[in-house]
Amino acid sequence: MPIVKAVIPAAGMGTRFLPATKAMPKEMLPVVDKPAIQYVVEEAVRAGLHDVLMITGRNKNALENHFDRNTELEALLRTKGDQRRLQEVMHSTQLANMHYVRQGDPLGLGHAVLRAQMHVGNSPFAVLLGDDLIDSRDDLLGRMIDVHDQRATSVVALMEIDPALSHLYGIATVEVTDEDDVVKVTGLVEKPSVESAPSNLAVIGRYVLQPDVFSILESTEPGSGGEIQLTDALNTLTTSASGGGVHGVIFRGRRYDTGDRLDYLKAIVQVATSREDLGPDFTTWLREFVTRG
Ligand code: UTP
Repeated sequence: MPIVKAVIPAAGMGTRFLPATKAMPKEMLPVVDKPAIQYVVEEAVRAGLHDVLMITGRNKNALENHFDRNTELEALLRTKGDQRRLQEVMHSTQLANMHYVRQGDPLGLGHAVLRAQMHVGNSPFAVLLGDDLIDSRDDLLGRMIDVHDQRATSVVALMEIDPALSHLYGIATVEVTDEDDVVKVTGLVEKPSVESAPSNLAVIGRYVLQPDVFSILESTEPGSGGEIQLTDALNTLTTSASGGGVHGVIFRGRRYDTGDRLDYLKAIVQVATSREDLGPDFTTWLREFVTRG
């Protein structure tokens, strides 16, 4: 069954980015001149997923407004004859078929994904975390969908990390396959200590999931941090007879966690330097800034 639906959880509290996220969703933080969430929706659309369900919560109205029309602003830009900005403003409205559901209480990523069950139904679907940016020059989701189609299992995205950072991620136990960038996942553990981490392969914010994950999530107890963890449900899926198991695609491209302040700054620099309009001037300034010390 082809994958057509993307689910974007964006209901987290964003505590690592306070006070900026006190009244504004972290997914609306701009990376140059676009909010982080727009890059994520654009990535889903590039992979052919035009049906997007966003999981939102209190304080998240700006997310819906961003993908809705702003007729007053459009009229103003039209009157001014500012076609370029008009196109930019309309672009986010026309990107995808957007749907929204509220999580209520942010009880964890697994709980957020379970809120998508009614919309997704009994088909495989993709999950893209709303604060995780994959550089548009590096394909990840397309590759994950290919692996899902070939192997008919759920697929997680994995990245090699410094083992000292294991306590920040879900970490996978894996077996090699005949493809260099694909592994079979035989176990997953959320935020282990460096001593107990089974590998240096961390789960990052892209998933292609079989619908079996919903029934597993329904009976998944709160885990690390008292939250219902998607990692725990996927760990069950690795051994479940019906769900078809889990594979991992090892991603070696550029990825930024915009919910983390340092990574957010890196994302802005990388995106800005690669832009045709801003890149040359910004790079010249950056070089001077770094040499000045
Ligand atoms: P994070 O753990 O990065 O989000 O979750 P957070 O809880 O907002 O972050 P901090 O630690 O407080 O700063 C990863 C993704 O899952 C979503 C978040 O919005 C983010 O996109 N999420 C997390 C939910 O939608 N619901 C939740 O209950 C938890």
